Amino acid sequence: MADLLVTQGVIHDHRVEAAFRSVARHVFVPNVSLEVAYTDDVVLMKTNESGVAISTVSQPTVVALMLEQAGIEPGHRVLEIGSGGYNAALLKELVGPDGEVTTIDIDADVTDRARRRLVAAGYPEVQVVQTDGEFGWPESAPYDRVVVTVTAWDIAPAWLEQLAEGGRIVVPLRMRSQTRSIAFDLVDGVLRSRSMAVCGFVSMQGAGANYERFLPVHGDKVSLSFDEDQLDEPHPLNGVLKEPAVVAWSGVLVNIEEPLSDLDLWLASTLPGYCVLRAERSALKKKLVSPAPRWGASAMVEDGTIAYVTARPAPEPDFVELGAVGHGLSAAEFTGRLAEQTWQWHEKHRYGPDPVLTIHPAEAAPDQLPEGFHIRRRHSIITITWPVD
Ligand SMILES: C[S@@+](CC[C@H](N)C(=O)[O-])C[C@H]1O[C@@H](n2cnc3c(N)ncnc32)[C@H](O)[C@@H]1O
Repeated sequence: MADLLVTQGVIHDHRVEAAFRSVARHVFVPNVSLEVAYTDDVVLMKTNESGVAISTVSQPTVVALMLEQAGIEPGHRVLEIGSGGYNAALLKELVGPDGEVTTIDIDADVTDRARRRLVAAGYPEVQVVQTDGEFGWPESAPYDRVVVTVTAWDIAPAWLEQLAEGGRIVVPLRMRSQTRSIAFDLVDGVLRSRSMAVCGFVSMQGAGANYERFLPVHGDKVSLSFDEDQLDEPHPLNGVLKEPAVVAWSGVLVNIEEPLSDLDLWLASTLPGYCVLRAERSALKKKLVSPAPRWGASAMVEDGTIAYVTARPAPEPDFVELGAVGHGLSAAEFTGRLAEQTWQWHEKHRYGPDPVLTIHPAEAAPDQLPEGFHIRRRHSIITITWPVD
C-alpha cells in the first residue's frame, strides 16, 4: 500500500512514507481481511440507525494528504479530532518520542476500540479521550497541530484557543456542498489557508453538527441544497422547470475527467443565490434537467428564476463545452451571468493559484475583514479571495 501511495504521487514526504511503512493498518481494522486492510480504501466501522456511516477508518490517500498538509515535526504536540487509531499511530510516528498525540472522539465505542488497538499496535503513549471535539481538549493544550478528521462547518473557537502561535489546523471544511481538506496557519491571530484539496468525510456530530438544507424544485426528484447562512432568502420555485428553457454557452471546454470543484467555488464566490442542483436518476432520464456534473451542478436562484451549469459535447473527443440552462422570468440574464462567470474562471483562475481562505471571528466588524466573498458561520466568518498570478 505504501509503495502504491508513493508511486501514485500521493506521498511525497519521506517521513510520511516511513510512518506508513511502520504502522500496521490491519490492527486497526480487524473486521476486514488483510487484503482489504491494505487497499487504498475507507473501512466502515459504524453506521447509525438509518444506515448512514458515522465512523470509518479513513482512506489512506486522504490520510496521507492531510498528514502532508499538516507538516508534523518531531516533538510536536498534536490533537486529532475523530479517532480510529490508525491516523493517531501515524501521527505518533511523526512526532517521535519527544512529541505528544491526543486523539478525541465523541463516540465511546470508537475511543474504546482505538485505545485497545493503539496498545496492540505498539502505541500505548497516545492519549485517547471521549469528548465532543467542538471543545477540543484543553488539558493537553497548547497544540502545534490540530488535525480534524470529520467534516466541519466552522472553525470551533476552542481549536483556535488551544493552538500554539504559529500552529496549524488541518480540517475538512464543508462549504456550498463541497468538502475540502484545508490547512490553515495561525499568523497574528488570523487563520489563513496554505493548501487545500477536495475530499470526503463523515459528518460531525455533537455541538458542531450542521447539515445542508434541501429545497424541492420538482417534488423531491430535483432539489437545491443551501447552507445555513443562506436560509433567509425566499425561493418560490414550484413549477419553474415547466417554464421554457433558455440556454447560454460559455465557450469553455473541459475534459470529462477534469474536476470542476474550483469552478463551483468560484461561482459560489461570485453569483448571488448560489446553490447546488441535485437530480434523481429518474429526473435525469426524463430530461427534466441536464446538470453538469450529473450528480450536482452549480446553480443560482432568485425571484422565481433558476439557472444551472450544463454541458454539451465538444468537437474534440472526451471534451464538453460548459454552459447554463435557465427557467423563469430572468432566465436569459441568469444564464448569461453563469456563462460569463464560467468564462472568467477559465480566463483568470482555472490554471492559477488556489483560492485563499481566511477565518475571522463572527463578531468581526466589516472593516476588519479582507475583501472577498464572505460565508457566515456560527463562530466565524470565512473569507474567500481569488489571487491571480
Ligand atoms: C473518519 S472517522 C475518523 C478516522 C480516524 N481519524 C482514522 O484514524 O482513520 C470520523 C470520526 O469522527 C467522530 N466524530 C464525529 N463527530 C465528532 C465530534 N463532534 N467530536 C469528536 N469526534 C467526532 C466519529 O465518531 C468518527 O469516529
